[in-house]
Amino acid sequence: MVAIGSLSRRQIEQGLPWTWTPSRLKKFIRLASTNAYVAHVNGEFAGFSIASLGDARAHLVLLAVEKKWRHQGVGRELLDWQLRAAQTAGLADISLEVRAGNLSAQSFYASAGFEQVRSLKRYYCGVEDAIRLRLSPIRAAVPNPEHKSPTS
Ligand SMILES: CC(C)(COP(=O)(O)OP(=O)(O)OC[C@H]1O[C@@H](n2cnc3c(N)ncnc32)[C@H](O)[C@@H]1OP(=O)(O)O)[C@@H](O)C(=O)NCCC(=O)NCCS
Repeated sequence: MVAIGSLSRRQIEQGLPWTWTPSRLKKFIRLASTNAYVAHVNGEFAGFSIASLGDARAHLVLLAVEKKWRHQGVGRELLDWQLRAAQTAGLADISLEVRAGNLSAQSFYASAGFEQVRSLKRYYCGVEDAIRLRLSPIRAAVPNPEHKSPTS
């Protein structure tokens, strides 16, 4: 939980108040509606994803990869695991919010087929706008054959 909280703090909530503390994460992950995955590469924590699966739709809450393991397909795998779970549950779509200034994450999600739905003014603690993205219908992203699936 500490590794997830720390990565979230450093790479998702940097410059904002820390909301996803280890204790909040622990409570959230225990909810029956929460789906969480952790990726390891060579036995090392590499990243995680957390989604909330509702009765009709899914919401991707957090996803991050340690800098050391980026650009190798780890993020895509973490996302795909969530997409497959939501698809298997028969959900209509999956949405998420991303910081308006986080262009690399927006490219990451666009490469998986997500489309911009709307902009949310000062969504993050009144400080930064968010972009809401949605994938509908839910479909797994096509993996890059150059990535050798380093995760376990
Ligand atoms: C966004 C993030 C999860 C991507 O993880 P990753 O493991 O590097 O991503 P992948 O290697 O699986 O990349 C998959 C595709 O996404 C796109 N992509 C990934 N990083 C990108 C970047 N920095 N710029 C542009 N496109 C990018 C590419 O199309 C890539 O496909 P390719 O390798 O065939 O070119 C990672 O950069 C990260 O953890 N960022 C900080 C946290 C964050 O912003 N989380 C999302 C908001 S909650």
